[in-house]
Amino acid sequence: MAKITVVGAGNVGATCANVLAYNKIASEVVMLDVKEGIAEGKAIDMMQAAQTTTFETKVVGVTNDYSKTKNSDVIIVTSGIPRKPGMTREELIGVNANIVKSVVKNCLDFSPNAIFIIISNPMDTMTYLTIKATGLPKNRVIGMGGALDSSRFQYYLSQALNVNPAQIEGTVIGGHGDTTMIPLKRLATYKGIPVSKLLDADKLNKVVADTMVGGATLTGLLGTSAWYAPGAAGAYVAESIVCDYKRLIPCCVYLDGEYGQKNICIGVPVVLGANGIDKIVELELDSEEKALFEKSADAVRKTNSVLQEINAL
Ligand code: LAC
Repeated sequence: MAKITVVGAGNVGATCANVLAYNKIASEVVMLDVKEGIAEGKAIDMMQAAQTTTFETKVVGVTNDYSKTKNSDVIIVTSGIPRKPGMTREELIGVNANIVKSVVKNCLDFSPNAIFIIISNPMDTMTYLTIKATGLPKNRVIGMGGALDSSRFQYYLSQALNVNPAQIEGTVIGGHGDTTMIPLKRLATYKGIPVSKLLDADKLNKVVADTMVGGATLTGLLGTSAWYAPGAAGAYVAESIVCDYKRLIPCCVYLDGEYGQKNICIGVPVVLGANGIDKIVELELDSEEKALFEKSADAVRKTNSVLQEINAL
């Protein structure tokens, strides 16, 4: 079974590690944090639940000791600061870019073959930075955003329809931003029934709008960024890789001509297996969706251009 490192033992990282252990996704999970004691403490706390929740995964916490992450199969990066109420994810770039860059490089020193899952925000730009700063092949760098945004879309659809969210299929593509994500309402279904047949246009548009600000809504309620669904989405992506499940998951990946885009990391559906990205699935978008995707890509590019201004690239 796999060894997975989670960098950043804050709310998202710890939740992710917890789901990895509870769901028996890895034999070993290493949590690493810069703050003395935090990863160690949370790892011990999780291990003390191993018996009552019946998992056998070994969870280890370390402060800045990258040697303990040696030979990880997958590395999940949650480092950096989360947003506060009223902030956009893009505003975090100045602090998070250099943190993510050094984390990824440190990890690679000990796990040269690892596949990276990026959660830190602004997620699309942090995924792009990881590829550009390391020269890693594009199949090994995956941003988690679309998995989370799609689960939020399915949640809001299930609320509007008053049905089980697990029986909804919904895909969100584009950037992981309040104005850049694109919940594909035309393709969403409830057990194969198009949701457009079950909800009127106003209700469906409200679901889309609620999904787009799903993270901001929680930040407003919690005073900081959400963690249960983001952490679980990271674990879900990791599971498809380490178990070679070949799940089709919307994720942020490097495009080289697909969807008419090049030199950008942005959310599209991908098949994830043992080599990371197995395949990028090209959906047939209608003209409205295509226009939204182009607008989203323009916005993500604009954030990417800040990387040069702050000397991160
Ligand atoms: C969110 C953060 C993790 O959407 O980006 O909750």
